[in-house]
Amino acid sequence: MDTDGFRRLWNEVEPVGRADSGGYVRFSWTEPDLVLRRWFLAQAKLRGLRYEEDRNGNLYAWWYAEKEEVVDPDRPRPHGAVLTGSHFDSVPHGGAYDGPLGIVAAFLAVDRLRAAGAHPKRPIGIAAFTEEEGGRFGVPCLGSRLMAGVIDPDRARLLTDPDGVTLAEAMLEAGADPATLGPDPERLEHLAAFVELHIEQGRALDGSESPVAVASAIWPHGRWRVTFTGEADHAGTTRLPDRRDPMLTFAFAVLAARKEARLAGGVATVGRVEVEPNATNAIAATVTAWLDARAPDEAVLGEILSGFESKVTERAGRDGTSVRITAESETPIVEFDASLRDRIAALLGGAPVLPTAAGHDAGVLSAHVPTAMLFVRNPTGVSHAPGESASDEDCAAGVEALAAVLRELAC
Ligand code: GLV
Ligand code: MN
Ligand code: MN
Ligand code: MN
Repeated sequence: MDTDGFRRLWNEVEPVGRADSGGYVRFSWTEPDLVLRRWFLAQAKLRGLRYEEDRNGNLYAWWYAEKEEVVDPDRPRPHGAVLTGSHFDSVPHGGAYDGPLGIVAAFLAVDRLRAAGAHPKRPIGIAAFTEEEGGRFGVPCLGSRLMAGVIDPDRARLLTDPDGVTLAEAMLEAGADPATLGPDPERLEHLAAFVELHIEQGRALDGSESPVAVASAIWPHGRWRVTFTGEADHAGTTRLPDRRDPMLTFAFAVLAARKEARLAGGVATVGRVEVEPNATNAIAATVTAWLDARAPDEAVLGEILSGFESKVTERAGRDGTSVRITAESETPIVEFDASLRDRIAALLGGAPVLPTAAGHDAGVLSAHVPTAMLFVRNPTGVSHAPGESASDEDCAAGVEALAAVLRELAC
């Protein structure tokens, strides 16, 4: 295992976007993301891989097969290809590894195969998907969803960040062309498999013999914007019975989300809120909150949402406020390709097989391409926060595992 080799390449990526909080702010199309995109291009060039940016801002570095006949010269896209990779973007003040680890590991796995003299029969590609977290524009897996045609490009172009900048404006500002956004079915058709390596987002591997696991499924999940509307007024002079305070309904809703999730057997989180006018001495006019809910199956997720909606609507009636719930993204359950999963678990000497409640581009791609995920042990179990962790030894073991999987699938 080349732990030093991992550390050397990881040192190039790890500082990018690190904030004073110790967490990472790598929002798509902002400077840290652009730095990492340029790094990706440089890494591709360094290795003589063919660099490509697709119509949705996703990046690729292609290692063509030695037998060039598998690459149709009339079609620029390699077919029968095995793709691996992940994303550079982060949630606000997120961890170092969620995303970039899968890209760094992909370059190192290709290096490993080349050093071992492997001769792929299929092209091997490394991918960096755009806006996986939805940390800037609110919709997760935006680059892969656009590619798969599951989000309307007109809607995507108009998504705004918290400063009111649209995705189209952000792309133009970064020198990219938002006019090309849209489905890319031919690209998906040309893929034989996708494998994403990712930091584990839980502690199932802590204390396990294996530093690497294989994913079985992704819980169905979604994000809903919940807008509470009341009436702004003076915090001192308005009698309590005369108030229509949306903050009260909001506070009830936070507790209701947790209660409904607990009763049904899923999870629910309100992690983001905006208040208007946001003054200490004024009753709020509106509160906008975002609900994230996830569950082991769709029936349970539906139960959480319908329970939440009915309890909160009833409460709004009592508070003299109104509430509107709109879905921003909904992701059905993902069951990863069972034969690929079993083949990889066996190849890795009986690696543990785990479900996850976190979303991934691999989940979007799995509707179109046989897809698998590898998880690298995270001893803290923390993710989407600065405490996310992995040892260099485990990351290097992840590289080894990914190289073995690419060799199995492409060589
Ligand atoms: C993305 O990582 C998500 O699961 O929210
Ligand atoms: Mn994430
Ligand atoms: Mn991720
Ligand atoms: Mn994710």
